[in-house]
Amino acid sequence: MTTIRISDGIVKDDILVVGLAAKSAKGALQIESGDLAVDSKVLLQMLSDLGATGKADEVVKVAGTSTRLIVFTGLGKAGSHYDHETLRRAAGAAARSLAGNTSATFSLPAKDATSLRAIAEGAALGSYLFDQFRGSTKSAQKAPLKTITIHSKKEAAKSDNQGSVKEIAAHAQIIGDYTNLVRDLINTPPSHLTPETFTKALSDAVKKAGGASAGLKVSITSDAQLKSRGFGGIIGVGQGSANPPRLLHISYTPKGVKAKKKYAFVGKGITFDTGGLALKPALGMEAMKSDMSGAAAVCAATIAIALLKLPIAIETWAPLAENMVSDTATRPSDVITIYGGKTVEVLNPDAEGRLILADALVKAQESKDLDGIIDVATLTGAQVVALGTRTSAVMTNNSEFSAHFIEVAKESGELFWPMPLPTELRASFDSPVADMANIGDRMGGMLVAGLFLKEFVSDELPWLHLDIAGPAFNEAAPHGYTPVGGTGVAMRSLVQLAITASR
Ligand code: BES
Ligand code: MN
Ligand code: ZN
Repeated sequence: MTTIRISDGIVKDDILVVGLAAKSAKGALQIESGDLAVDSKVLLQMLSDLGATGKADEVVKVAGTSTRLIVFTGLGKAGSHYDHETLRRAAGAAARSLAGNTSATFSLPAKDATSLRAIAEGAALGSYLFDQFRGSTKSAQKAPLKTITIHSKKEAAKSDNQGSVKEIAAHAQIIGDYTNLVRDLINTPPSHLTPETFTKALSDAVKKAGGASAGLKVSITSDAQLKSRGFGGIIGVGQGSANPPRLLHISYTPKGVKAKKKYAFVGKGITFDTGGLALKPALGMEAMKSDMSGAAAVCAATIAIALLKLPIAIETWAPLAENMVSDTATRPSDVITIYGGKTVEVLNPDAEGRLILADALVKAQESKDLDGIIDVATLTGAQVVALGTRTSAVMTNNSEFSAHFIEVAKESGELFWPMPLPTELRASFDSPVADMANIGDRMGGMLVAGLFLKEFVSDELPWLHLDIAGPAFNEAAPHGYTPVGGTGVAMRSLVQLAITASR
């Protein structure tokens, strides 16, 4: 774990990170530091000789005189103000490139405390390594920086009401640590992350966060209880696996204050998706260990919201199952009964996420006085086709809530895009034998999945469905503060929603 601190004192580290921006298309460069004077004439010549451009994601290291190493991290086009995500990414790219070192000081152009927080977050998010499952190659892995000091002007930290520098650093630390928890859970192989061990990992995390004294409570519904209580979706999807399904519930009630808002979060927790009897092709199936990304994101967000002591109540539900192939697996044409009584003909056992989410959405709505409900899921390949790997989709029954969420998410640096739920697609999942089938038109498959979930949500309750299939798992090169593998997407936006609702 990397420790993040903010200081306006003298720089003691022998590694200094500053920004580099492009002044013009011709290649003129500009060094952008917080308030540390960096000998720019000599350095600018050196940087241009080295071919530096100041582009985002570019990191150039130069041997220094007063410090051992000066690290230039790209900010893109030079401007009077750099937006929060530009700073977050630049800090993240620098932190990533410094793995293997012990400590560094980051001096990036922060106009205000929110910018400072973004830099601190980027530094924390870029400091990630997943090496739990390495044996003989473990020692060859470069560990993230142990300490990162964000150097700040006194005035910057005092502006825009974000609290003391200590609070800003603590905040960034929580965002970094709990995003990294999401990443760890996603990266953990399905041999080690089953529905049962997922609940264990989260119970431990809740305990570590202070448990009841932090306002957090955990309850776990076993497979036997799920069966007797009528959770036909979770049971139907999980029945082909030797690792039985679970329903995890985490609630957060703020201490000593009345909650300003109450949200329910629901996250898809398929610890591995083989496709069931609609078996997926072998090529790429390994990425389906990430099919619990939604569950990990909502659970970690709930703990982070509790640690930030936000005056918002959260009821989080993570239906957990392993979608396997066996003689007990659900057959195409089987009919299951979702919690609450609606029946579904399972025409395709690979469309399993919507089945476990349906159970959990219905259960979550038993909670009174909800202001909104949000589900998060790696739900469809169609999402990746439509929006690629860095933009998630939002579907809703309330366009105001959706627009608000997308705005709030932007502040956390996460990209969401609104998608429609066209009513004409509804009939495509009519079933000749049950209330509905679990698949409909292939074209618009992401929207069909959204419409299926909508069947299980009250029209009166503002609801968002976040399909994060593409952004949840990075199979390409690392970039900015995003590593290879689990990204932790959606966690920060959910926390930011609670922060915004607290104001
Ligand atoms: N977990 C997958 C969706 C997915 C695909 C997530 C790629 C991340 C990357 C989901 O359970 C699934 O298999 N969906 C099917 C639905 C289809 C059978 C209607 C799909 O999208 O192909
Ligand atoms: Mn599937
Ligand atoms: Zn799936």
